[in-house]
Amino acid sequence: MTILIRGGTIVTAEHSFRADVLCAGGTIAAIGPDLAAPHGTTIVDAGEALVIPGGIDPHTHMELPFMGTVASEDFYTGTAAGLAGGTTTIIDFVIPGPTESPLAAYHIWRARAEKAAADYSFHVAITSWSDQVHTEMGILARDHGVNSFKHFMAYKNAIMVDDGILLNSFARALELGAIPTVHAENGEAVFHLQRRLLAQGITGPEGHALSRPPAVEAEAATRAIAMAGVIGAPLYIVHVSTEGATSAIARARASGQRVFGEVLAQHLVIDESVYRNPDFGFAAAHVMSPPFRAKHHQDALWSGLASGQLQTTATDHCCFCAPQKAAGADDFTLIPNGTGGIEDRMSILWHHGVAQGRLTPQEFVQITSTNAAKIFNLHPRKGAIAPGADADLVVWDPAARRRISARTHHQNVDFNVFEGMEVQGVARHTIASGHLVFTEGDLRARRGAGRYIDRPCFAPLMQTIATRNALTQPAATPRHPPA
Ligand code: URP
Ligand code: ZN
Ligand code: ZN
Ligand code: ZN
Repeated sequence: MTILIRGGTIVTAEHSFRADVLCAGGTIAAIGPDLAAPHGTTIVDAGEALVIPGGIDPHTHMELPFMGTVASEDFYTGTAAGLAGGTTTIIDFVIPGPTESPLAAYHIWRARAEKAAADYSFHVAITSWSDQVHTEMGILARDHGVNSFKHFMAYKNAIMVDDGILLNSFARALELGAIPTVHAENGEAVFHLQRRLLAQGITGPEGHALSRPPAVEAEAATRAIAMAGVIGAPLYIVHVSTEGATSAIARARASGQRVFGEVLAQHLVIDESVYRNPDFGFAAAHVMSPPFRAKHHQDALWSGLASGQLQTTATDHCCFCAPQKAAGADDFTLIPNGTGGIEDRMSILWHHGVAQGRLTPQEFVQITSTNAAKIFNLHPRKGAIAPGADADLVVWDPAARRRISARTHHQNVDFNVFEGMEVQGVARHTIASGHLVFTEGDLRARRGAGRYIDRPCFAPLMQTIATRNALTQPAATPRHPPA
């Protein structure tokens, strides 16, 4: 399939310029003014719109088995909804149980994801430690294109890991040229607060937020940064939701540590008042971890993105329908944690970011696509508009508006946390691997069209870190033997 995008303004992470883009054989074949269309080419008229790299959502959980149920969105429906919103690549999470093999789990997730409509890759969670896990991390990194390992500092009695596991796994990732990532919440503190709140008779969704106050995240982020720091490892912190964690990241970066922070579209625009809604279904639909916060945290997250202290945006897309959320009707600790957003992330970021004067269009491209591609070593295949890059492109109408609603979204979930918001900035056409998969509201996602994307270890940053660590190795002090 050959597609010519005619007449738009290309916006990359660096600059903007007017040019046509010719896509052939799944990649970008040419960029330039007035390109000729070979016979049979589909012409996509960009008009006054922008042409941007397809969005990368580096944090999703399609069909995740979690908290006694399975996320409602599968790899097909979830990636298809992403395409409708301009996201053309996801990085999902392989999450083995603490007694399960990470390598075996990886193969289970690969099989599940074969139905995906968009390209995908996997972070692998380390949920226990043994010689076998150490060995399997090597196999995943060297033979299976996994260059990031995830650690949950929360979810006690399930997938939480302690500091010993964090250190062992961070060190192993470093040796392999892979980047460690963490869900930063102090799981012991959460568990303690949950028991206390339930004993006090607080059983509703408000207990979820009360059991995970901002300090719980700031402490874990600070601790994870310190542990990465003492062994010379980089660190990527997923779903940063607080001022405290943002400051911890900024301090670490200022001191020369390689730390990255991800923000969810949801945390940027939704506040903690949702948990006080008298309607259980509404409040429970917002139960995710970390929870939504007081407004000043949102301001800190926006400042973090604008200043470059926070680098990526994601959704943690992990959908549960009302009957699933109802499992926690009498006990907030049993409400499956997760919210959706893959279809709306790009519009939320444009509307509240670019249209509100918080972000430049280039910064929008950085935080929705290019930065994730660089951190996770997908660049310049992904996150770039350049000859040879994958033809993952969005014709983005910066002025068009749409109203978000669960009644009209493509996501396989009965609730939308952005319900009723009118957003400016809409994907008019989405091209994935050179195919026109969404055009003027018509979703043409193809089941199984998505490809698994290998992410090799030793990205440029990891090479630099290895060099630095080799040059700064501690040495023993030479001494004469005692006389
Ligand atoms: O509430 C959330 N975020 N659910 C998905 C699992 C996780 O913590 O990322
Ligand atoms: Zn294998
Ligand atoms: Zn998490
Ligand atoms: Zn997650």
